Amino acid sequence: MATKFNQQDIVNYLKNYGFVYPNSEIYNGLANAWDFGNVGAILKKNIKDLWYKYFISSHNEMVFLDSSIIYNSSVWKASGHLANFSDPLVDCKECKNRFRADKLIEEFLPGTEISESTDHKTLHDILIKNKIVCPNCGKLNWTDIRNFNLMFKTFQGVVEDDLSKLYLRPETAQGIFVNFKNLARTSRKKIPFGVGQIGKAFRNEITPGNFIFRTREFEQMEIEFFIHKNDATKYFDYFEKKLHDFLVDECKFAENSLRIYNHPKESLSHYSSKTIDYEYEFPHGWGELCGLADRGNYDLTVHQELSKKDLTYLDPDTNERYLPNVVEPSMGVERLFYAIICEHYHVEKVGEEEREVLTLPIALCPYKIAFLPLVNKLKDDAFKLYEKLLKKYQINMDFDTSGSIGKRYRRQDAIGTKYCITFDYDSLEKQTVTIRERDSMEQTTVKIDELDKFIVEHIILG
Ligand code: GAP
Repeated sequence: MATKFNQQDIVNYLKNYGFVYPNSEIYNGLANAWDFGNVGAILKKNIKDLWYKYFISSHNEMVFLDSSIIYNSSVWKASGHLANFSDPLVDCKECKNRFRADKLIEEFLPGTEISESTDHKTLHDILIKNKIVCPNCGKLNWTDIRNFNLMFKTFQGVVEDDLSKLYLRPETAQGIFVNFKNLARTSRKKIPFGVGQIGKAFRNEITPGNFIFRTREFEQMEIEFFIHKNDATKYFDYFEKKLHDFLVDECKFAENSLRIYNHPKESLSHYSSKTIDYEYEFPHGWGELCGLADRGNYDLTVHQELSKKDLTYLDPDTNERYLPNVVEPSMGVERLFYAIICEHYHVEKVGEEEREVLTLPIALCPYKIAFLPLVNKLKDDAFKLYEKLLKKYQINMDFDTSGSIGKRYRRQDAIGTKYCITFDYDSLEKQTVTIRERDSMEQTTVKIDELDKFIVEHIILG
């Protein structure tokens, strides 16, 4: 179920427990930039590993790629990003703040019929007629609306001129398209096959915000699945279900925490003929968690045209030569991170007290186990056992000695540690430890020499 906490509650919780820190905090921060801390970095990695296992390594027809962030600018010319990847920008002449005109209208007049193709004059007229004032200074004095390209610019080499101008990729997808020929040849896969990629993308968003929901630097997990055009519907449906099952079965979202948004034709991205989003109810409202697009053969066509290289595929069975179509499931790592936290963070009553608990599935837990010596005197013996298991299994396990055992349980619950193993006097005398499960808080005594079996059954295979 979606969270009942507001955004600030979540931001505070994530900062307190080492998940997400404000970026450059000692210099008063950098707006809309965040760093993932000692616990958050592991959760982020676990999310990417789960996606990789679910979508890539468990499928013979999937391969993986790691392409650059900076490409030859022709890539962006061909893909249409130089011409089309822009938002309608409007400035307040009074306070000089900048806004996305379409978002201002959506915010102040929900339900107004506008789309990506609504022209600038119409947007401006809506602002003026409806007296939509600047949210910062309250004045009604807007500039004309103009297009603002969202790609980050940079320069290669020592000269900063138009010839050395380059762009940071706004999506990982293009790296897959421009490598299509190489990938088809070296992977020896036949169509249908897919290429996955996880990596950074950059967008100079006009209105970033809502914590890590919309930032200018983020990571994407994308697949371009290459198919014959006759199979477009079949694979669109396949990935619609696959995304659903990943979110529900693997990330453990409740069914009613998700909904599907069908993009109307007039608001589709320039490359897409059909797009749906899975949306989640974030603290600021429903928003896109991930998307699925039918990109047709748009990208291979435009790259073939501009590069003048043959990007067609020859079907070895039918001898048909064609430019493959593509179905693209795409997900933002930080958005999924945020939604997972909202879905699994709870504050519960335990007797007279409250406990914070993060009910993550085992694959996502930053720490699978925490070793807790009951008292400081037992620290060295407990550490020997902890270290032995840590070296043997190389899974993230925490070791915590400071504070009462109750407080240490609470801290581990709050960071989602699935099991706490308490090392007490019986551990020395009877060779037993107590295992406490996070959600039920039930405790069981087990023999130390049964811990291997427990770890294999509950964590490695769990
Ligand atoms: N290649 C297709 C593509 O990039 P998109 O809907 O623009 O499609 C895909 O982006 C996913 O990337 C989104 O569903 C979202 O999870 C994530 N995303 C996009 N812009 C983002 C931003 N500014 N900050 C964080 N995540 C973002």
